[in-house]
Amino acid sequence: ETAAHEAVFDAAVAADERIEPRDWMPEGYRASLVRQIAQHAHSEIIGMQPEANWITRAPSLRRKAILMAKVQDEAGHGLYLYSAAETLGTSRDELLDKLHSGRQKYSSIFNYPTLTWADVGAIGWLVDGAAITNQVPLCRCSYGPYARAMVRVCKEESFHQRQGYEALLALSRGTEAQHAMAQDAVDRWWWPSLMMFGPPDDESTHTAQAMAWKIKRHTNDELRQRFVDIAVPQAEALGLTLPDPDLRWNEERGHYDFGAIDWTEFWDVLKGNGPCNDQRLSRRRQAHEDGAWVREAAAAHAEKHKDTGKH
Ligand code: ACO
Repeated sequence: ETAAHEAVFDAAVAADERIEPRDWMPEGYRASLVRQIAQHAHSEIIGMQPEANWITRAPSLRRKAILMAKVQDEAGHGLYLYSAAETLGTSRDELLDKLHSGRQKYSSIFNYPTLTWADVGAIGWLVDGAAITNQVPLCRCSYGPYARAMVRVCKEESFHQRQGYEALLALSRGTEAQHAMAQDAVDRWWWPSLMMFGPPDDESTHTAQAMAWKIKRHTNDELRQRFVDIAVPQAEALGLTLPDPDLRWNEERGHYDFGAIDWTEFWDVLKGNGPCNDQRLSRRRQAHEDGAWVREAAAAHAEKHKDTGKH
């Protein structure tokens, strides 16, 4: 019987049809999706911290309103993604527990500090830009709920990317000190942004199987190259430089060549040794504990009204 199920699943994937929650799926497919979607969800909510750091110090009311909206969007993305993971039979409690105990990862990028206001611009431009490059193909992921969540996430990410670009442009065209601040932020965020795409293809554990299942549509290196090709002309338009002396157009390949990434730094951050790992996780645990009364009140309310169906 499993063989028959498997044949139906394989045919659906081959025909680019969507797999839905009630469909039969291989356990490995389910587990791989839970792993990726959970890591993605965790990244969205941990990613609120570095930017929230600047809400109280945004340089104008307009910038503050935009930044608050953006950080709220990230919380929303986390919620869509936890919901998508729940359709695979895992509870949100379980996933949060794994995040808090360090058994599930979140993106390496959020373990770097936001030292100046320009970092908010650099995150929008580079980090959200990298996120879109990675996530647009996920709108065609074979698992329906994940693919559909990505459509809205990508629209909101595009707004985030533009606001970052615009904030950075204002600084770049500002005073000498503002320009220097923008350049410094780009210098610090460029390499970590390239690491967001994951290890090189020959060191990527999951890519081959994820591509076969059409969870991923492109490899880590393909998307990293696509991002570099998009970012170089944008940096020129911004009047900023990218901190890589080896960056140059390769006529033959039709792509920009770029320098070697420090993978030791990447693996070190994944092991928990980045500049902000401890701070991010302990802040997250604290926020969860602080919210315990809300969860308890919601559960008590649901219990009280479970027979009447009223709210
Ligand atoms: N940060 C932390 N961990 C990473 C990163 C990263 N940037 N890149 C890869 N890893 C981890 C993988 O999770 C995997 O660990 P695991 O086996 O314990 O799960 C290991 O490194 C090996 O990597 P891959 O085999 O290449 O992993 P995968 O095929 O899942 O590819 C990728 C990684 C590209 C990040 C993929 O999971 C993906 O597309 N995820 C969805 C997008 C996402 O999570 N974005 C979050 C940041 S964007 C934002 O929130 C604004």
